[in-house]
Amino acid sequence: MLLLIAHQLISILFLILFPLPIIAFVKSRTKQQLPTPKLWKILVMLANLALFVSLITGFIIFPDYTSLRVWISVILVLVIGAFLGIFSKRLKLYQLEKDIEAQQKHLRKISTIGFGYIIITIGTFWFMSNWHNF
Ligand code: HEM
Repeated sequence: MLLLIAHQLISILFLILFPLPIIAFVKSRTKQQLPTPKLWKILVMLANLALFVSLITGFIIFPDYTSLRVWISVILVLVIGAFLGIFSKRLKLYQLEKDIEAQQKHLRKISTIGFGYIIITIGTFWFMSNWHNF
């Protein structure tokens, strides 16, 4: 029970990245720079931590490796992890880039990847809320 609460609470951390693709989109449109890319790195790290903790707590809550639900969850975790990885890499490229045009290109990619992350995360929340219906 306590673990389920921990699992639910830590999953709130996934939401901290939700504003970033919108900000990246607006900044790329208005050809502005990101004011706080370092803070963004920290937020991505926190979401990565949440991913790790939810995977572990999820397995402890429901330790049934033969369940299809568990494998769907694992795939969702891997997909979210991939999005976080690409997001982080683009952010690094953005930070290293000096040329404004190239920076804007990275920002557009960051925004697209970020929207993908939002969709898959909402899908995961929906899947978890309907756990017992599957
Ligand atoms: C990105 C990863 C994950 C997120 C964001 C997430 C999020 C959540 C949330 C928000 C709930 C509460 C749903 C509700 O009761 O309304 C939940 C429940 C649950 N999650 Fe996850 N979870 C993740 C990964 C996993 C994994 C990897 C597993 C198992 C291997 C898992 C197993 C469960 C189980 C068994 C429940 C309890 C369902 C119930 O009894 O109500 N989760 N999860």
